Amino acid sequence: MTILPPSKEKFDLVMADAGNTHVSDYDYLIKFLTLGDSGVGKTSFLYQYTDGTFHSKFISTVGIDFREKRVVYRSQHADGITGRSQRVHIQLWDTAGQERFRSLTTAFFRDSMGFLLLFDLTNEQSFLNIRNWLDQLRTHAYCENPDVILCGNKADLEEERVVSEERAKQEAEKYELTYFETSASTGQNVTKAVEFLLDLVMTRIRETVDNTNFPGRKRAAPGVHIESDEGDGQSKNSCGC
Ligand code: GTP
Ligand code: MG
Repeated sequence: MTILPPSKEKFDLVMADAGNTHVSDYDYLIKFLTLGDSGVGKTSFLYQYTDGTFHSKFISTVGIDFREKRVVYRSQHADGITGRSQRVHIQLWDTAGQERFRSLTTAFFRDSMGFLLLFDLTNEQSFLNIRNWLDQLRTHAYCENPDVILCGNKADLEEERVVSEERAKQEAEKYELTYFETSASTGQNVTKAVEFLLDLVMTRIRETVDNTNFPGRKRAAPGVHIESDEGDGQSKNSCGC
């Protein structure tokens, strides 16, 4: 499979025309990207999120890959009002952690709207490298302070853990990131981390695109409702336009 580098557009945000439903059957196309050292579990994390599966065999990603998932997003504002449902198509770009692919993978940073930065709780060096990955992000992302979630992965391997939760939280605070302890194996916090990122990105879009619709409203509370699109009735998925 040949994947071309992304376009130069800041955000390839697709908002479907409500009166033109054949154009697309979702309201937003959101692009996320995983990054972090080789072996921390980026590919496994994404498989767990999209398919609910886990494979223990390590097949290192060559270059870049992607997975997709549809969700229904409903924002919940601080005043308790729930926003209308939005059909969201999430594209999750899975980058190779290996250094030799770095120039290829960083080319995809620019086109991504949110980032899942993973390290391995059982691997000290992957934790120390967080700073380098954030430097890369600052250089190559669409802006200097994109939405990033930090995930300490392999939380199921408690006996092999070398990075404590407290230490990881301190690091996250230092960089003003939200931190989740995740396991691509058991699924712990995997969906929660992606949903949290989606909420950050959707809030940023809403504030950027149309501030006037949200007078004086602060960032939406994290209590966002997201339902998997699969198996849900069509009427549930309607955007309510
Ligand atoms: P690159 O593609 O080389 O950048 O690596 P990656 O970050 O995509 O790592 P990958 O998902 O391929 O996982 C590496 C190895 O760690 C595999 O053997 C996985 O099965 C294992 N692994 C990933 N996540 C977890 C986890 O949460 N728990 C456990 N126990 N193993 C995991
Ligand atoms: Mg991989």
